[in-house]
Amino acid sequence: MKRLVVFTGAGISAESGIKTFRDSNGLWEEHKIEDVATPQAWVKNPALVQEFYNQRRKNLLEAKPNAGHQAIAELQKYFNVQVITQNVDDLHERAGSQNVLHLHGELMKVRSSGYPELIYSVKGWEVKMGDLCEKGSQLRPHIVWFGEMVPEMDNAIELVQQADIFIVVGTSLNVYPAANLLDYASAEISKFYVDPNPDLVYNFADIKVIKQKAGIGLPDLADKLIKELFN
Ligand code: OAD
Repeated sequence: MKRLVVFTGAGISAESGIKTFRDSNGLWEEHKIEDVATPQAWVKNPALVQEFYNQRRKNLLEAKPNAGHQAIAELQKYFNVQVITQNVDDLHERAGSQNVLHLHGELMKVRSSGYPELIYSVKGWEVKMGDLCEKGSQLRPHIVWFGEMVPEMDNAIELVQQADIFIVVGTSLNVYPAANLLDYASAEISKFYVDPNPDLVYNFADIKVIKQKAGIGLPDLADKLIKELFN
């Protein structure tokens, strides 16, 4: 089977009711990154940081995968599909995608602030100050904050290098090192970028830009790729 790598950002979950970060009305308009998404914020006001992620979790528990997530899962019947997502939601998994690499962590997990190898699933939406790991350290969101290493980056690069087809969906390509992934796809392969408001700073010479929402653009693209397979 051909290897299809799909690199997703917040835009793929927008139609599920999850806010993006940098669109108008996005999360970074309401909250300051330095207050809620940095190691310094966690030191300064951990309760505020927990509350921010509690609200994200509450929102996620009410959300469902949309036609974009489902189209990617459907492609698994025809391709060896690997999802690399910047999203911390679990909507790819809930749509049925089997291989999902989370570059920026996972909202439905927490980890020990003292023993980072101790990672737990969250039941429900709320994690409080005073919730501890088995060794007594405070639990923190299992999220890669600004200024922290991106531990899955090397694995993601390797997957992109092996891709036969590469699809980018719903990302402003503003956050590094994640946005660098595009540079690792072979010049020989077909590449697509599905986004209603694509970032045009990047040099898209060899990428077909599909200026549509994920819920429309991805099912159409999936149909096209499947038809091509049988021609
Ligand atoms: P952004 O909020 O920066 O970009 C969202 C993208 O989604 C934009 O290009 C929109 O045009 C597009 N979009 C909006 N609605 C869409 C739809 N229905 N279908 C498809 N695309 C749509 O989000 P990211 O690029 O994912 O990191 O942001 C990257 C990282 O910045 C996030 O992982 C997060 C954030 O800070 C951390 O928190 C560590």
